Parts: sequence; structure tokens; C-alpha cells
Amino acid sequence: MKKAYIETYGCQMNVNDTEVIFAILGEAGYERTEKMEEASLVMANTCSIRDNAEQRIWGRLDVFNQQKKARPGVLVGIVGCMAERLKDKLLDTGKVDLVVGPDAYRSLPRLLNAITPDKPQIDVLLSRDETYADITPVRTDRNGISAFISIMRGCNNVCSYCVVPYTRGAERSRDAHSIVREACDVYARGYKEVTLLGQNVDSYLWKSAGESVNFARLLEMVAAVAPDLRVRFATSHPKDISDEVIRTMAEHPNICRHIHLPVQSGSSRMLEKMRRKYDREWYLERVAKIRSLIPDCGLTTDVIAGFCSETEQDHRETLSLMEEVGFDWAFMFAYSERPGTLAQRNYPDDIPADVKNRRLNEIIELQNRKSLERYRAQIGKAVEVLVEGPSKRDPEQLCGRASNNMMCVFPALDRKIGTYVRVRVKDCTSATLICE
Ligand code: SAH
Ligand code: SF4
Ligand code: F3S
Repeated sequence: MKKAYIETYGCQMNVNDTEVIFAILGEAGYERTEKMEEASLVMANTCSIRDNAEQRIWGRLDVFNQQKKARPGVLVGIVGCMAERLKDKLLDTGKVDLVVGPDAYRSLPRLLNAITPDKPQIDVLLSRDETYADITPVRTDRNGISAFISIMRGCNNVCSYCVVPYTRGAERSRDAHSIVREACDVYARGYKEVTLLGQNVDSYLWKSAGESVNFARLLEMVAAVAPDLRVRFATSHPKDISDEVIRTMAEHPNICRHIHLPVQSGSSRMLEKMRRKYDREWYLERVAKIRSLIPDCGLTTDVIAGFCSETEQDHRETLSLMEEVGFDWAFMFAYSERPGTLAQRNYPDDIPADVKNRRLNEIIELQNRKSLERYRAQIGKAVEVLVEGPSKRDPEQLCGRASNNMMCVFPALDRKIGTYVRVRVKDCTSATLICE
């Protein structure tokens, strides 16, 4: 059998897409390898979200081409969001044999057959209905405990800074029964946690003859697969997360108490310009609702520093919102202008790099302090952890996450991977609970 090697960049959806790609490549006679040196097909599943994500790929392309030089016949492919965004510009480099966008993975076997040295192949057609619902992903996680399941693809929002609607196309929801079947299937194979993935899971809506399933209902259906199968999901959109979803979480102990709720900015003026369709007050109200129904809910977020025309006052509003909410953790970025987006076409990227970075650093510093506070507040509590594997630092210790998504380490004793243990938090860092 021929071997395929894929490096994955970007979000969890891309991680799951790589698993779908391996399944499709299997039909074309390729098996998965983690060693580039033995692969006859070397690919990157790419991300375009920020400029530095793409810069990394250009570097990897040179490394892939060294393989091509050393071993004639090796094929190099770029798939995913950057393939969709740059299309034949990637072929023009002469370094790539194959360019395939996120909705075209089914054509991989055909394209691979058609490649000749002077005939690279490309398919970047976006689809209205492709969800890969019938494809069983080849799981690439290492522990066999936690699986990703994509429940929808694309995005119908047009946040002005964001390239995703252009690289992933329109939003479409996957057949609810195929999602439940996939959850049953991984559970039968020993998995204990599924994470339902979509750019905006709260707008999940699948309809077929006489049946309509929204996200709250889908959560219920997946939670019903087994009481010891944990259910997680990402990403929630503040404008769409409903009371019904929050209540459903509160009612099902196996739906994990964690919501990733990207705020992007604490300034209503910036949020308007970002086209997020909510304001600061709305966001704070959603947080209050979550905390009233699920007091122990973990909350994490994404923040962008230095978006177009952001003033010091706007920036301080982001800091004050973060202070007020107290997120457990955050992904924090300096604004990166993306070609073709509304922001790139309409607003100058006018915050100087040094100002953006200073603001980003203030945001990071504040979040580090808040994370430590949030983790410290857990000291003395008993938490239930799903054992994921040995701790990276100390082989005598195991690690796993609490329901609220906080990482825990605790003595291994004779505990087994994939079981639930109750431990007590005795200490912490700003990213780990140290338990006994
Ligand atoms: N669908 C999710 C986010 C997907 S992208 C949502 O709406 O929240 C992940 C994160 O990348 C975003 O939340 C945002 O914080 C960040 N991001 C997206 N575009 C960006 C850009 N042009 N510059 C900097 N950060 C960006
Ligand atoms: Fe991008 Fe906005 Fe869609 Fe998230 S909701 S993927 S930020 S356009
Ligand atoms: Fe990146 Fe595409 Fe995901 S741009 S963040 S890989 S949807």
C-alpha cells in the first residue's frame, strides 16, 4: 500500500477534516503514516485565518519539496482553507501537484490518478450540501478516548475580519442521525468523549421530511447515546446561543460544563464594525444567563487586539469586559488583515504593529492573572476527571480534563486511561489543576 502523510494546521474542524481525508485516501489505496520520509503523498491541510498561519505553510512547502527532490515520484498536496483561498496561485509556484479545497475531498482519488509531472490537479469547488456525513473518519488522536465529530460546515456570518466564509462556503448542517450513529460508533470502540464541531454550532438546524433538529435537540440526542459518554461542543456564537441550549446543558450531566464563547472585543463600537451582531451588554447578559443556570460552567473566549480604528478607549473596554467576566482561558490575537474580507475592502488596517502588540500583551497579561484566579478558585474542590493519558511532565502522573475543560494532573496509582476518577484539587498553575 502507498503511504500518505498529512500535516494539519488551523482549527479542530481541520483536524477532523484530515481524518475524513485519510478515509477517502484509503479508498485510493493510501494508508496513513506519521513519517514524511516514507510517504509517497505529502500534504498540508492548511489554515488561512491569519497571515502568519499562511506564512508557516510556505515554509513547509519548501520542506515537502526536498522530499520530492530526494525521492522522485513523491506527490505534494495543499488542501484546506489556503488551497481554497489561493487556488491556482499555489500551482503557479511549481511546487505543488495537488490543490483541493474543503468541499472537494471526495475527488481526491480521481485527482491523484490524473496527476502527471506536467499536469498538477486542482478542485476548489465549494458545495451547498457536502457534509461528508457518510464517511467514517480515520481517527488520528493518540489516546482513543476523545473524538471530534463535525456537525456542520461553512459559515453564514460575515464577520468583517474573517476569511472563513470565503474558504469554507455557506453553512450547512449534517444529518442528525448520521451524527448520532457516529457517536454510537466511537463509543462502541471505547471512546468516552465526543466534541461536536462547527463554526457556529448554535445555528445548527437539520430538516428532513417531517423532522427538524436544532442544536439543543441534537445535544440531547448525542447525550442519550450513553451516560458515560461526555459531550463537548465548539464554537458557540454569542448572538445565537439560546436559553434552550443552556438549559439542555444544565439538564444533562454528561454534557460538559464548558462553553467557548468568543467575544472578540469588549467595545460595542468595535463589535458593530466587526459585524458580530451583538453588543457588550448582550454578551454580558448571555454570560449572566449561563452562570445563573450552570454556576460551575467553564467559560473561554477569543479576543482580537487592534482591529481597524480601535481606540485606547475601545481597548480598555475589552480589558474591562475580561476583568468583569473572568474567563478561564482565552485565545488572543493581534488583528491580521485578510484579503477579500469586508474589513480589508472597507477599513484601513490603521493600528500600528507596535500598538497592536502592546494592546495584545496587556490583554494576555490580564488573562494570565484571571486564569490563575479562576484555577485557584478550584482549590479544595472535588472534580470528576476523564483520564486521558500520562502527564507530559511526570510519567508517575496522569492527566485529563474536568467537565469545565480545566486540565488536571494527579497520581497515576493503578488508574486506567478512559475511566472517570474523582480527585481533589490541592494546587494549581494558570493552566493546570494539581490534584490528589
Ligand atoms: N467561528 C468562530 C471563530 C473561528 S476563527 C467564532 O465566530 O467565534 C477563530 C478565531 O480566530 C476567531 O474567534 C477570532 O478571534 C480569530 N480571528 C479570525 N479572523 C482573524 C483575523 N483576521 N485576525 C486576527 N484574528 C482573527
Ligand atoms: Fe468567522 Fe464570524 Fe463565521 Fe466565526 S462566525 S467563522 S468569526 S465569519
Ligand atoms: Fe483556519 Fe479554515 Fe479553521 S481558516 S481556523 S482552518 S476553518
